[in-house]
Formats: sequence, C-alpha cells, structure tokens
Amino acid sequence: MRRVAIIGVGQSHFGELWDLSFRDIFLSAGVEALEDSGLEGKEIEAMFVGNMSSGRYLAQEHIAALIADYAGLAELNVPATRVEGADASGGLALRQAFMAVASGMHDIVIAAGVEKVTDVGSDAAMDILSSSADREWEWFVGANLPSLYAMMARMHMEKFGTGSEDLAGISIKNHRNATLNPKAQFRREISMDVALNSPFVAEPLRLFDCSPISDGAAAVILADETTAKEYTDKLVYLAACSQASDYLSLQNRTDPITMSAVVQASKIAYRQANVSPDEIDIAEIHDSFTIAELIAYEDLGFVEKGKGKEMVREGRTEISGELPVNTSGGLKACGHAIGATGIRQAVEIALQLRGDAGKRQVEAEKGLALNIGGTGATAVVSIFEVA
Ligand code: COA
Repeated sequence: MRRVAIIGVGQSHFGELWDLSFRDIFLSAGVEALEDSGLEGKEIEAMFVGNMSSGRYLAQEHIAALIADYAGLAELNVPATRVEGADASGGLALRQAFMAVASGMHDIVIAAGVEKVTDVGSDAAMDILSSSADREWEWFVGANLPSLYAMMARMHMEKFGTGSEDLAGISIKNHRNATLNPKAQFRREISMDVALNSPFVAEPLRLFDCSPISDGAAAVILADETTAKEYTDKLVYLAACSQASDYLSLQNRTDPITMSAVVQASKIAYRQANVSPDEIDIAEIHDSFTIAELIAYEDLGFVEKGKGKEMVREGRTEISGELPVNTSGGLKACGHAIGATGIRQAVEIALQLRGDAGKRQVEAEKGLALNIGGTGATAVVSIFEVA
C-alpha cells in the first residue's frame, strides 16, 4: 500500500442554512478544499461523496453525478460515487478514497460529505434519522435514535455509576470548544445548570445531550505521498482508515453498552498505523449523543470499560487536557450534518496537525477520528499523523 496524505481541506458553515441549496453547500466546501490544496480541479481523478438520505430530505437521488456536474468535473468525466452508511457516510467516503489512493488506482481523489436536512421539519428529520436504526424492530415500536441512546445511557448509569453531570460535562466542553470554531452551529457556552435543567428528549437524555439537526458539507483531498509533496510541505498522513460492523438493532447485541464495531475498527486502525491508544494526542469522536462520546472513550481503548466518566471528571478530554476531544465542538455544538460529519472530523484533525486550527489549536502529532452510523452498527476509525 502507498502512503496517503491530505493535501487540502474545506468545510461549509454547519447549521440551519436556509439561504443555501444542497449544491451550494457542497460547492462552498469543495472550492475551499481546492483552494487549500493549490489544485485547479482538473487533477482530481475520482470523487466519493458521503450522503445519508438526499432522496428523503430533498427527493433528489443520483447526487454524486449532480455534484460532479455542478463542480465542473462532469466535462472531465471524473467518476463520482455516493457512499451511504447513515451518519457514518462521510467516514465511509473517506475510506473509499483512502483505498483508491493507497492501492495505486488513483493519485488524487476528493472525499466529501454533504447533507441538507432542515428543508424538512423536525418530525420528518427525526423519522429519517431514525431509519438508521432497525425500522421494523426498533422504530415501528417507538424506539427512535434519542430513545435508543437513552437506553444505553441508563444501562451505563446503572452498571458503572455514570451520572447526568458526567454527560453534561461532555456537552459543556463541546459547547465551549465550539465558541472557538467560526464554522460551528452553536457558538455559545452553556453552564451545568443550563444543561441539567434543559428539557428531557428521552430520559435520561436532555436537549443538551443531543446533537442538533444541521445542514453542511466538508471535503478533503487525498494524494499519494509523492504527488502530495508536489503541492504542500505541510503533509498530514492518513495512516489508517478502518471499518467494522455490528448488529443493527440494540436488542441483538449481547452488551448494548459496548460498541463492538468501534472496538474492532479501532484495533485494526491502531495495528495498521502502528500506534497505541496512549500515543493519540487529539481525537474527534462521534458525539451524536453525549453518552456516545463517553462510551467511545472506553471502546477506543483510552480508558478501561466503565471508567469513561473519569475522563470527564478529571478534565482529560478538555482542550487543555492530555487528550483533547472534539476541539471543533463535536457533533453536539459544531453540528451534525449527517453525511458530512465523518469528513468534517477529518478536516478538524488535519487543521490541528498542520497547526492551522486558529484559537482552538492544540499541540498534536497524531490524531484519531471516530465516525459511527446509528447506534454503532457501522464504525469508521481513522488515524492521522504528521510524520
Ligand atoms: N442542542 C442545543 N440546542 C438545540 C438543539 C440541540 N441539540 N436542538 C435545537 N436546539 C435549540 C434551537 O437552536 C432552538 O433555539 P432558539 O429557540 O434559541 O432558536 C431551540 O432549541 C428549539 O429548536 P427546535 O429546532 O424547535 O428543536 P426541536 O425540539 O425541534 O429539536 C431535538 C430538538 C433535540 C429533538 C433535535 O435536535 C434532535 O432530534 N436531535 C437529535 C438528532 C438525531 O437523532 N441525530 C442522529 C444522531 S445518530
């Protein structure tokens, strides 16, 4: 396999983007990534786009062709492929691009993600988002995404003594980080009091335990090491990008508070990148709900099972801590534009490792991103490094 590097990154603002169309949102991220890389565009050999549900949000399918057309790549006949894995769609697109470059099939590939969610109302958005769980065994009997994560949270609380304050601590951290990110949806700090007194969405999860409904897009340009060196001397390598699956519905998992796909994908990624969890300096972790971030601390091997709460209580994942997590604000406060999220995480880690993260810059040489679909039936773990 060839070494793969990131040579350009771009991201739209995340949030309720009423004044922008689906294609405009994508284009803002794509153009930024091209400008960042110094490419003209004609050098792109292939494109992979993560998107969960444009058919239901916008009644528009065939979006990879649409985007290639709108981005000026159609006249070059560049192959463009849509990739779907619920809110892991972006991570999967990154993995497809990674494999295309690592294998030698292509030298320069764009991996992108885009979702326009807010054109439908909250109820419809919840319905569509919850189709990432098992429609027949979960959603038809009333279990939507927040309630499934609520069950996981309750089990974690009962078994390990995790408290509502621990979950709120994750939300407070991510909101604080988002104040430093000009592209984030919510750029305001919240207090423990505000978090713990926000309304229940699905008990024990409150409003501030949930990621919001967001529109947005992100793009990264990957190249093999030799080609990458022609464009930049600030190389960030994608050292691993691994994927694993788990049972779709919670009821089939022997342990619903261990995300086996995360455990498995991370083990493969650590092995491929030849690093151990304690060597990771920074992480972007899929916090669709605060409990997801806490469980991921454990399943990624940063802390023993059941001790995720200690990471919060000891401030270890704060921006000033030993392992800053979600410096972007995470899904909770930067926003969760479903198919774009996995790519948006890669953008953040690349900016941090390059030293281009502005006010939220931390010292880091190795970074990790975890993007999951639904309650964890799909997991993508990527490891980034500067040397
Ligand atoms: N966190 C913080 N504030 C939020 C928020 C969130 N997750 N969601 C909405 N808000 C704010 C809005 O900005 C708005 O504030 P304003 O009155 O100051 O403008 C207010 O709350 C009401 O917004 P509204 O859009 O009416 O909220 P809602 O009640 O329709 O939706 C949730 C709130 C939590 C139900 C919705 O965000 C949700 O479904 N989140 C989970 C999404 C999900 O399942 N994702 C899949 C993950 S796998």
